[in-house]
Amino acid sequence: MTPTGSTTGTTGPARLDVEGVVVAFGGLRAVDRADLCAEPGSIVGLIGPNGSGKTTLLDVISGLVGPQAGSVRLDGESLVEYLPEERVNLGVVRSFQDCRLFPELCVEDVLLLTQDARRPVGVLSSTLQAPWARRSERSKRAALEQVMGSFGLVRFRRHRIAHLSTGTRRVVDLASIVLARPRLLLLDEPTAGIAQREAEAFVPLLRRLHELADTTIVLVEHDVPLVFELCSKVVMMETGAVVSSGTPDQVRRDPRALAAYLGASDEALAVSGAVPVPSADPEGDAVAPAGGAAEPVGE
Ligand SMILES: Nc1ncnc2c1ncn2[C@@H]1O[C@H](COP(=O)(O)OP(=O)(O)OP(=O)(O)O)[C@@H](O)[C@H]1O
Ligand SMILES: [Mg+2]
Repeated sequence: MTPTGSTTGTTGPARLDVEGVVVAFGGLRAVDRADLCAEPGSIVGLIGPNGSGKTTLLDVISGLVGPQAGSVRLDGESLVEYLPEERVNLGVVRSFQDCRLFPELCVEDVLLLTQDARRPVGVLSSTLQAPWARRSERSKRAALEQVMGSFGLVRFRRHRIAHLSTGTRRVVDLASIVLARPRLLLLDEPTAGIAQREAEAFVPLLRRLHELADTTIVLVEHDVPLVFELCSKVVMMETGAVVSSGTPDQVRRDPRALAAYLGASDEALAVSGAVPVPSADPEGDAVAPAGGAAEPVGE
């Protein structure tokens, strides 16, 4: 079957339905009959202890891993026949952590590159300055300026990626995502590896991303309070299976979720505020950028 279904070319946030997905790696069931549904335009949080299958489930949705059983549908249409790159063309976008791959490029060039990856204009038409290429260049510029303004990146325009703090690089990642025009965005631990102070600043940034990109989001995060604050729905996994699903309040009160949550890693519990951070060092900022006040995160 050629993937030429009705989803192609559709705009606006997509609906996602995952049903009964099973992924086994040898004898290990990494995902065990997992269900997940995201209404168009919603933010669904996917939480659970280390190794519970969250990333593997995102891999199934983006097409990197083929499930042994179950279905993934976008606006009702099965994605089973679509390759990962074809899913990208449908607007299924995984979080980029790619800007690290271009340490010598400046912020503006990385963002332009992201746009080109999703909106190619032929080399020949660009060289000859064909009218459609010029129009495309103009609209690319306009989108770039808007996104850089919205994410406080204008003054970093000419800064090289290698010189940014981890937190600011993540903001560049978020800006790239908006420019990729996702209809379904899969974010895997966007705050991993950044300081708690900067992670807190991610709530308004992710809200801005959601608003600007006008997309449905599935967010995997170990920062449970961030998930509860941001998401209209929370799905909790444990050893591959969904053990709780509902509004943040429902999941927060669900004894099964609590059990899985208490079984989470020390790191997850510490970051969640469920237990005190052992010998917390208020100055122990992993990213602690020199002149951090000038960075967009934490403002
Ligand atoms: N390619 C693979 N081959 C074999 N086992 C794998 C592979 N990918 C993941 N696993 C295993 O599948 C299980 C689920 O892994 P997964 O990465 O999906 O968990 P996770 O919930 O994302 O964990 P974390 O919170 O640590 O990121 C783990 O036991 C992991 O070791
Ligand atoms: Mg993971």
